[in-house]
Amino acid sequence: MSKVTVVGAGNVGATCANVLVTEGIADEVVLLDIKEGVSEGKAMDIMQTANILNLNTVLRGVTNDYSATAGSDVVIITSGIPRKPGMTREELIGVNAGIVKSVTSQVLAASPDAIIICISNPMDTMTYLIHKTSGLPKNRIIGMGGALDSARFKYFLSQALGANATEVEGIVIGGHGDTTMIPLTRYAAYRGVPASQYLSTETLAKVAADTMVGGATLTKLLGTSAWYAPGAAGAQVAKAILHNEKKLISCSALLDGEYGQSDLCIGVPCILGKNGIEKIVEFELDETEKALFEKSAAAVKATNAALATAL
Ligand code: 2OP
Repeated sequence: MSKVTVVGAGNVGATCANVLVTEGIADEVVLLDIKEGVSEGKAMDIMQTANILNLNTVLRGVTNDYSATAGSDVVIITSGIPRKPGMTREELIGVNAGIVKSVTSQVLAASPDAIIICISNPMDTMTYLIHKTSGLPKNRIIGMGGALDSARFKYFLSQALGANATEVEGIVIGGHGDTTMIPLTRYAAYRGVPASQYLSTETLAKVAADTMVGGATLTKLLGTSAWYAPGAAGAQVAKAILHNEKKLISCSALLDGEYGQSDLCIGVPCILGKNGIEKIVEFELDETEKALFEKSAAAVKATNAALATAL
């Protein structure tokens, strides 16, 4: 029996719960929100698809009742405010830091053995905050950003290639920010063949640029930040853990010397399994990629420094 809690029944949290249920990723899912009735309503709406979609997962919505989340194997934190058009993810730190800190202590009181997946923005800094305030071992705290950014990268690659997105390989490392993420175009591939054999340098650069502002583009179109791919990416990370998949997924992890960096959470290729982050894989980076990673790490650390005043 596996149990997942999703904290925050906004667009991202509800979508994440919906994917967990429709894909049968967990046996039991609890959706929790502070707004009276919202998670109950969304859970009921989703469960009313059970007969239509032949679902077996049980989803329950609760208002701020952490006792209902007890014994969760995985907790996905989506709480906090989303960005509005023109805002960066980093600008959310003032409001979201306090919320994420309080949610973390409440979920861990109910589920001390849970693995935590952080979606709240600014995602790398919120993941780092969970490390700093929870005392959990580093394998049990995972930021979802790289999974989402890599999915967007593969989408834009598939569009440029005219290919099926499931046959495209691509990974994004670095921070989950418009200027800090690093789509590794050199490692992008279509059925094992480097994408550079099909796409010009200019086209690959445009794919990378579109990926980096992927979230901002959607925020402009939607008037608030995206939710389908962010929710699904959270569920993808949960699935890799619950099903002990040992999949390589880019996630925000606490670094301790890997990629020449320490004391920050940032997107790196991780093997995910039943213990959470089971291994950080060190890709060989060329000089340009190394310089981009260093710059990205410096920017994430600068945002982390703002935690001191945000809390
Ligand atoms: C995004 O990139 C929500 O940060 C998330 O859409």
